[in-house]
Amino acid sequence: MSIHPEVAQLIPTPDVVGTPQISVLDTGGQYTHLIARKVRELGVYADVQPSETPASELQSRRGVIISGGPASVYSPDSPSIDPAIFQLSVPVLGICYGHQLLAHHLGGKVQKSDHGEYGLAHLSVTCTDPLWTGVEHSQIWMSHRDSVSAVPAGFRVIASTEVSGVAAMSDPERKLFGLQFHPEVVHTHAGARILENFIFGICGATKDWDVSQRVPAVEDQIRAIVRDRNVFFFVSGGVDSTVAYTLCLRALGPERVYGIYVDTGLMRQGETEFVRGIFKELGAKNFLVDPAEDEFLAVLRGVTDPERKRHAIGEQFVQVQRRILTSQHFLDGNWILGQGTIYPDTIESGGTAKADLIKTHHNRVAGIQALIDTGRIVEPLTSFYKDEVREIGREIGVPEKFLARHPFPGPGLAIRCLCSDVESGVVHTADGFLLPVKSVGVQGDSRSYRDVLALPDKPTIDGIRATAPKLTNKRADINRVVALCGGKAPVESLQVFRASITKERLDVLREADAIVRSFCLDTGVEEEVWQFPVVLLPLGTEEQRESVVLRPINSVDGMTADVVLLEPEPLAHLTQDLLQIRQIAAVFYDLTNKPPGTIEWE
Ligand code: XMP
Repeated sequence: MSIHPEVAQLIPTPDVVGTPQISVLDTGGQYTHLIARKVRELGVYADVQPSETPASELQSRRGVIISGGPASVYSPDSPSIDPAIFQLSVPVLGICYGHQLLAHHLGGKVQKSDHGEYGLAHLSVTCTDPLWTGVEHSQIWMSHRDSVSAVPAGFRVIASTEVSGVAAMSDPERKLFGLQFHPEVVHTHAGARILENFIFGICGATKDWDVSQRVPAVEDQIRAIVRDRNVFFFVSGGVDSTVAYTLCLRALGPERVYGIYVDTGLMRQGETEFVRGIFKELGAKNFLVDPAEDEFLAVLRGVTDPERKRHAIGEQFVQVQRRILTSQHFLDGNWILGQGTIYPDTIESGGTAKADLIKTHHNRVAGIQALIDTGRIVEPLTSFYKDEVREIGREIGVPEKFLARHPFPGPGLAIRCLCSDVESGVVHTADGFLLPVKSVGVQGDSRSYRDVLALPDKPTIDGIRATAPKLTNKRADINRVVALCGGKAPVESLQVFRASITKERLDVLREADAIVRSFCLDTGVEEEVWQFPVVLLPLGTEEQRESVVLRPINSVDGMTADVVLLEPEPLAHLTQDLLQIRQIAAVFYDLTNKPPGTIEWE
């Protein structure tokens, strides 16, 4: 099996204690919150503030770090800083764009270089400096095109690389430092040491942050916000809302916390019982399941377009929430809304854009909006990233079998149950069989919606690495390539049938998904893949009108994904088991990485 190494998710933390010793000024960088998190991991409380924060608000800090960012200091709208911070006698460290801002404001020069410097580079330390205590020539991580070409008066160059003359500069008298590279990422080998030198050696910060204290700190914060009121959550069965709910349960006691789970009928087999069992284990007393399957199936009837499906589901959530809010009296003054919002949900991120679609609909319920507008909301996880939420979950006793679950899309199986409003046969081409089933892809940073090419042979590594990319690059009519694992009829005899979402089709998908899931648990594949969607296509024969696609992938954040190839023998068994389902005509294997395919087919 080809398994790709998981890279630990890198990211930040909370605003639950007193005054931060270090503030990170955010100029829009990818890594801004990672910087704050790294400082906290060194035992010092740090927060993130907007880049324009007035110097007067920063004078009590031990140090200020200016983050990297995508802009150029010479662009008219680029993020800036209050230059008075350089007069505060507070040490300042500029990183990447922050380093260029330092040069720009203090009389140095920043230039667009002929070529950028992206990724690994080698740091040559050119003179001793308080930043370099214990730091030698070593690997660093760069990501820039603009460079400092002349350092400001009073500064000296303290390191260079092959590409950057000024990889680092400092004015130790005034305690001002600039790094073109990123000390906060793991690829900069001496990064933690450099930050340590800055925070302790230069800023004189003292240890005041203990990661093990974050749970009690968050619980204190919950009690302070909720006061004598009660909290209700719409829980999804996902990790974030469950961990947020459990924190409230611990902080307030089970009598004061309600969890409502909407059973949409679009969930996997046994999901509602599983979630009910978990909440029982967590000690929940007030956990309500709202049976809403009929309502969701009704709004999906006849809908075939993927985005219209999502929209219909989102709108239906709004309706269901409205019904629950009014029937349960949650809008009287005694209640506040709990939400499992985590840090990435609060920033604009491609990775959460789709998840937000559903959430946006939730938030549009007038009653919920009123709760938010009047501050009747508690979101204990807004400062944390996914991996931290899992760690917190572990600390507070959320069972591992729950925390280790694969990500699952909000609209549920609806986006894995493909629909069609036409009937059409399979077309034989020189490259393989063109299946007239459209799926979503991501090509050149935009969405594509195209047919699928099926290869008649079993999946191979060569198919994933060579054939599929070649075909998706060559043919403008497809964005996905699948291989045939097995079938009850020849591929050329299959056809697409008119179909939308019905309980019967969802039941077929649920059965196929359950077979794949127990295969994964039995073989250990569950732990080796990041996600394993099973997709139902309305493709088959008059007798068996459906096909299944297996989509095991590995990913770090869902933004890109690699296909995982299962070994031939277990795959053959799995295929045979799936073909036992009466309605299934064929089993395919998706060979398409993301990009050009998306992880889900819709
Ligand atoms: P795609 O298909 O865009 O998926 O490559 C990336 C990750 O996002 C999940 N996903 C969704 N999650 N609502 C969600 O909450 C959605 O509409 C949605 N669509 C995709 C997908 O499962 C994968 O983990």
